Amino acid sequence: MAQAAASSKRGFGQTERRDLWWVEPLAIAIGLSGFVIYATWAAFQGNNYHYGPYLSPFYSPEIFGDSPHSWFGPLPAWWPLWLPFSPALLILWAPGGFRFTCYYYRGSYYKALWADPPACGVGEPRAHYRGERKFPLIVQNIHRYFMYIAVLFLFILGYDVWKALWFTNPATGAVQFGMGVGTLVLAMNVSLLGGYTLSCHSMRHLLGGRHDEVNKALFGRGCYNCISGLNRHHMKWAWFSLFWVAFSDVYVRLCSMGVWSDRRFF
Ligand code: FES
Repeated sequence: MAQAAASSKRGFGQTERRDLWWVEPLAIAIGLSGFVIYATWAAFQGNNYHYGPYLSPFYSPEIFGDSPHSWFGPLPAWWPLWLPFSPALLILWAPGGFRFTCYYYRGSYYKALWADPPACGVGEPRAHYRGERKFPLIVQNIHRYFMYIAVLFLFILGYDVWKALWFTNPATGAVQFGMGVGTLVLAMNVSLLGGYTLSCHSMRHLLGGRHDEVNKALFGRGCYNCISGLNRHHMKWAWFSLFWVAFSDVYVRLCSMGVWSDRRFF
């Protein structure tokens, strides 16, 4: 508290720190901005998001769309013509909202993008702190509800991995069991997203018990310890899964465009 009060009295960016305090927020700003720019571009493309049995995770579930993965077929006639459409735009609000409201990312982008403050002990550009108990940041408390949807997405993405094990033989048209590099890419994606979701702070409260009432945990102290172990590495899960979900889209996209060819193991 004393440190926060002291930093609010300093001018923006003023500090007595002599270490490279700006490196971490700068790296986070570059990483997060890069991801948001790429994901937005990819979501608006509306093409090259599937290849054979592979479906880009940015487009899964494909509720409406032209690919064989679509749940309800092509874009319905009632869709307003003035409204841009891409299958990704229908669903990306869910994983996007989950990440945006994540406790770890909040701490990161408050510093890196809002300079609130840029780092501990460094002056910030505003004198008052409204916190997350008042509008607008109070809406960040919706995080636990995004977590429920994120769990649902894990099952959907897991099913995509299952589908990525079945290839159509171009010679006979028969569907055969097999595995390609893309199968592994999608499997790695759902594994990392699983680690990120299970290590969520809200998951620890849900499965591991609330506050200090560990003994009242939904699945007991063992579960609390397990989730806590994952939670200690939540930052790593967050970054690895962020990178890999973008890479999964790149992989499917470049295969679909004919730039990369998918190697089949069997
Ligand atoms: Fe990061 Fe929940 S705290 S996903």
